Amino acid sequence: MTRVVDKTACGWYNETVMNRGKFIVFEGIDGSGKSTQLKMLSKYLQGKGIPCVTTCEPTDSPFGGLLRACLTGRLETDERAIAALFAADRMDHLFNPVNGIEKRLNEGVTVLCDRYYFSSLAYNGEMTDSVWVEELNRPAMEQMRPDLVIYIELTAEAGMERVGKRSERERYETLEKQKKIRERYLRVFEKRAAQESVAVIKSERDKERTQEKIRAAVNGLFGI
Ligand code: TYD
Repeated sequence: MTRVVDKTACGWYNETVMNRGKFIVFEGIDGSGKSTQLKMLSKYLQGKGIPCVTTCEPTDSPFGGLLRACLTGRLETDERAIAALFAADRMDHLFNPVNGIEKRLNEGVTVLCDRYYFSSLAYNGEMTDSVWVEELNRPAMEQMRPDLVIYIELTAEAGMERVGKRSERERYETLEKQKKIRERYLRVFEKRAAQESVAVIKSERDKERTQEKIRAAVNGLFGI
């Protein structure tokens, strides 16, 4: 909480309490159900009168459009180009002066984001030089650490079973890759345990039960 004291010309103090919005990130392997849980949380927070927006990475900007083309195979490219594009998409997502996440947070709006730099560390770090991927993401890691990361935990087998029901398979959606990505996620959280606030939430068959656990992890951030 920032307390801004503005001394006016006639000597009165105009005291405004500015509450920065919270930055909450959802992570998990493909098929973990994060998008559904994020929407449910958004409704819940709005119901509590907390101004809140949802967003995702890859974004719907031109950077994100390029990434979607790479992920679906419409555009063939190298893993390093994908890793660099994700980092560029993220910089724009955070710091775009018109509609960036930083701007929304400063306006007091809570931002719920589907995937963030942990996805790059887990996915792109698995596919190419992990030290370089970390370096690419250093500005975000240093300047915009989330208030809370919700990691939806399930096995690669369970994730792939859910993905299998969708019509189109994306670049990383094979059981072998998902197993490695999941292991890397866990290693990333272990390595960054001192810097990050992470709630590991087991994905239940009943999505309402998963949501209850997410709400319990989030409530404290808002004093509710
Ligand atoms: P995903 O959340 O699965 O989107 P959708 O459900 O709409 O397909 O994200 C798309 C893919 O992008 C997913 O396989 C993870 C991958 N990804 C990365 O490899 N690096 C990143 O930094 C991000 C944000 C996502």
